[in-house]
Amino acid sequence: MSLTPLQQLDAANHLHPFTNHDDMHRLGTHIITEASGVWVRDAEGRRLLDGLAGLWAVNIGYGRREVVNAVAEQMTRLSYYPSFFNSTTEPAIRLAAKLAELAPARLNHTMFCNSGSEANETALKLIRAYWKLKGQPARTKIITREFAYHGVTIATTSMTGLPSCTAPFDLPLPGFIHAPGPNAWAANREADPEAYGQWCVEETERIIQRESPDTIAAIFAEPVQGAGGVIPPPPGYLRALRQLARKYNILFAADEVITGFGRLGAWFASNLWDLDPDLMCLAKGLTSGYIPLGATMVSDEIAATLKHGGYLAHGFTYSGHPVSCAAALANIAVLESEHLIERVRDDVGPYFQRKFADLATHPAVGQVRGEGLIGAIELLPPGGKSALTPTSMLGVKASNLIREKGVIVRGIRDLIAAAPPLTITHEELDILFAAIRAGLDGMWK
Ligand SMILES: Cc1ncc(COP(=O)(O)O)c(C=O)c1O
Repeated sequence: MSLTPLQQLDAANHLHPFTNHDDMHRLGTHIITEASGVWVRDAEGRRLLDGLAGLWAVNIGYGRREVVNAVAEQMTRLSYYPSFFNSTTEPAIRLAAKLAELAPARLNHTMFCNSGSEANETALKLIRAYWKLKGQPARTKIITREFAYHGVTIATTSMTGLPSCTAPFDLPLPGFIHAPGPNAWAANREADPEAYGQWCVEETERIIQRESPDTIAAIFAEPVQGAGGVIPPPPGYLRALRQLARKYNILFAADEVITGFGRLGAWFASNLWDLDPDLMCLAKGLTSGYIPLGATMVSDEIAATLKHGGYLAHGFTYSGHPVSCAAALANIAVLESEHLIERVRDDVGPYFQRKFADLATHPAVGQVRGEGLIGAIELLPPGGKSALTPTSMLGVKASNLIREKGVIVRGIRDLIAAAPPLTITHEELDILFAAIRAGLDGMWK
């Protein structure tokens, strides 16, 4: 297969994230040229339905003039100014205020950054500073869970509970502890996920006691684990985990990089499940991916400690970038004015989950699971679950078959995941699921 000049240029100069470059360049990079709504178009002129919203990000769909106009206006008026030097800009102030209005009651303070990784990294540093100011500098250890994905910096990779992310870099660093994640399917406990969730919490408590509670700074949790395979919490699990943190005076941080801004039919999973986190990390749906922006929200108590703790030596050149913040404000205005979050809760979310449930009896399907507008299908080989191997990678095979049918989903290990824009219609969902079914039909051929 011969590569186009653009593909050749890509192969010559461009290193991609999370990619096997030899495999990619053998086939030629898939170059996307334009997008509108839930549809993207590639360099060959093919139209594909984006069932993953880019990378779980494009909540309001592609090509919205509201965001484009807000960005153009802001760039024209003030293209950039930092929030260092006792300065800032109006969009950063207004966005921090808007987030305080939307977030759980105690979260009224935001530090901005550029990505989900930086939001978690910022949380880690603010937590360290907080405990030091509180006279408990020994509280430095961080508990996260297996199957967690929290980012790619050295520290946030250390938080990530996926050996494929940590092993190549000899991580995690010391002090990052992984408790079991509530993935009942992977643990062969799918018959009783609730009991498995309870065991995970008990095991987390044993870890806290083993490590000594007063050395633990925080527990971080994605309310629905995303990149680790779309793992919704079993009933009772998240509340119990949150309670556990409270019992030992450990901070609880919700990583809502995927679950924020309507994906689950609420502004945040923390609202939906009453998690009352001490910190919340945001990115992706904050701007629907139009422009990079991340945010770390902290409780009144943490903010008061940091604000009165002297010079706060953290932040990025682009923290609170006015153009990114203007994009976020326009994005939030679209979510509000079109009632997209209620739409996920009452309409497309339930429809999406019903369509997933319809696939549960397909012979190549072991389990379907999801919440709101995010879902996953565990795939089976003809020999059943016991015939799966660590290298079977059925998810990649299925996602390739589904892409041939004109729909983009994500293959992860032996599963496929979908999380389309919140604007998706019933007709588009029908197209999405028809392609998934056709792909599944091809799995055993
Ligand atoms: C839950 C979660 N946290 C953090 C990140 C990292 O975000 P970024 O890729 O913007 O650094 C991701 C990215 O997928 C994520 O899903």
